[in-house]
Amino acid sequence: MTISTARRTVPTLAAMAREREKIAMLTCYDASFATLLDSAGVDVLLIGDSLGMVIGGHATTLPVALEDMVYHTRCVASGAKRALIVADMSFGSYQESPQQAYGNAARLLAAGAQMVKLEGGSWLAATVEFLVARGIPVCGHLGLQPQFVHHLGGYKAQGRTEASAQALGDDARRLVAAGIALLVFEMIPAALAGELTAELSVPTIGIGAGPGCSGQVLVLYDMLGIYPGKPARFVRNFMTGSATIEAAVVGYVQAVKDGSFPGPEYSL
Ligand code: KIV
Repeated sequence: MTISTARRTVPTLAAMAREREKIAMLTCYDASFATLLDSAGVDVLLIGDSLGMVIGGHATTLPVALEDMVYHTRCVASGAKRALIVADMSFGSYQESPQQAYGNAARLLAAGAQMVKLEGGSWLAATVEFLVARGIPVCGHLGLQPQFVHHLGGYKAQGRTEASAQALGDDARRLVAAGIALLVFEMIPAALAGELTAELSVPTIGIGAGPGCSGQVLVLYDMLGIYPGKPARFVRNFMTGSATIEAAVVGYVQAVKDGSFPGPEYSL
């Protein structure tokens, strides 16, 4: 596989989706991994608030502070040259008002992010419009939203009933109309993710959402086999059969690009 060295931008991702080139995204939290992932061909580096769990050792992402996100975004930005850098907005840093979201998103952009990611549906539309109008690209996140873990009673698949699939589709359409440039679907049925991807005008990125999305994301530590206990069903350990971390990441990029990951065994 030839890996283009062109810098990934927001318009590049839209062009990749149009041309049906799958987008390979991984979470990343530091400069050393940013350099490695970048040269292995990962298109998008996500400074996920999952860092609260995989680095901080917390049971949820809720204790993560905006300061943590700013620090890790700065670390990743100093290592990456080619990949687009997306930073999660931490719990409590955007829910209050569009103005609160703007002030905090601006800090993430100043730290090196090129896009911010927010969890939530239609209730976030006014915030998305506010950010986009002021030059901040936004990624949505629907399906399982880990910041709603207490509301959901656990990390459970979403969109499985007709009513919840309908509500998820309505949320997606509302966020697209508000101006999001990218949309993550987490733990939803593959058929639903595929249908919405075909309908929506922005690229979609799946995690536990089947092969029909415009691209895939995994938590870096999960795909390297670093997790306590049993991994989630949608996680593939790419270290299995790989001699080095570099080879595992190249294997992930190849499997996303050729559509072999995620197969049915990693989908809902
Ligand atoms: O925080 C994170 O790592 C994420 C991914 C699971 C999409 O939001």
